[in-house]
Amino acid sequence: MPLPEPQLPPSALLLAWYDRHRRTLPFRNMGLAAPDPYRVWLSEVMLQQTTVAAVGPRFDRFLARFPDVATLAAAPEAAVMEEWAGLGYYARARNLHACARAVVARGGFPRSAAALRELPGIGAYTAAAIAAIAFDEAVVPADGNVERVVARLIAEETPLPAAKPRLAAVAQGFMAEPAARARPGDFAQALFDLGATICTPKAPACALCPWRTEGGGPWRTEDGGPWRTEGGDPWRGGCLAQARGIQAELPRKTPKRARPLRHGAHFLLTDAAGQVLLRRRPPSGLLGGMLEIPGAAWRETPWTTAEALDHAPVPGLDWVRVPGLARHGFTHFELAMVLYAASVPRLDPPAGMEARPLAEAAAGLPTVMRKLLDLAAVPPG
Ligand code: ADE
Repeated sequence: MPLPEPQLPPSALLLAWYDRHRRTLPFRNMGLAAPDPYRVWLSEVMLQQTTVAAVGPRFDRFLARFPDVATLAAAPEAAVMEEWAGLGYYARARNLHACARAVVARGGFPRSAAALRELPGIGAYTAAAIAAIAFDEAVVPADGNVERVVARLIAEETPLPAAKPRLAAVAQGFMAEPAARARPGDFAQALFDLGATICTPKAPACALCPWRTEGGGPWRTEDGGPWRTEGGDPWRGGCLAQARGIQAELPRKTPKRARPLRHGAHFLLTDAAGQVLLRRRPPSGLLGGMLEIPGAAWRETPWTTAEALDHAPVPGLDWVRVPGLARHGFTHFELAMVLYAASVPRLDPPAGMEARPLAEAAAGLPTVMRKLLDLAAVPPG
């Protein structure tokens, strides 16, 4: 016999809470005008792996430089990559640029999640978020916040990531309700805000939750009357995890394997005019298309100085080891880097490399490379 479908709490209670408590965020137009798909798309891509707090100022800066999709599509890829510097996950910037070109070529953003999904860099979550927020499609984007809220509502015991498809399907169930269907963009963002401010990972503030269960119900509307089901009965469903007292334990997660440690050796070559030698990484793969401080491959065994010097971009210089290590965490490994420094009167870049003023380089390098400049005590650009 199939399991009964979980009973979801009324979407109207969450929407009423959102109308009072929504966060003011740089990428939200706070209902003042129809959302601009370009801004919605850009904010969703930035928010994929980066916190709301970090995205805020970078979103405004990006928009000032690339105010619309046509400007972004017409820009050189290197300019987009450099504007993205420090945000991490650089494939996002390459895909953003490719996506802008595809959008301009087809004469505008497609309006459905299914069609948005076809564009570079747009996965199931981002397609649903854009379709709901910019185009009012009745879809529920399931990000980590939404997964956590739903896992608690239905007390899902299956750990992530295995539970993802089920949680996304249950979340989509909210769209069966007319109140949610009337405001899909607000409903999605209400779930995000609930997850970010109340249904938080470690210590959820259930007492403040619009979906809290008080003594088993009934749910109350904003004016204090009992919430009624379509049949007219007081609605007694609630957050199952809260009822069982296990809300802080959910969602369960399959333990991650420890990240392996890799070792790098890099070479900071500067000249008397304050220029630094840089190299552009191959267009695909980790940090694809980004500038870097030249170095040897990242490998499992530490580099001895003798081995490392074989990979110096300019051999025969008086390379001096900068004391200490620079460390950086990538998704799949941890990196420890040693740095060698040298200077020459005037930089003459070898083939495939370029010389840039240090201040400009500092601003355009990914964080992992910025850490090498910090180790050498080069001031920020
Ligand atoms: N996280 C991802 N998209 C968001 C949005 N539109 N509002 C708040 N948090 C988000």
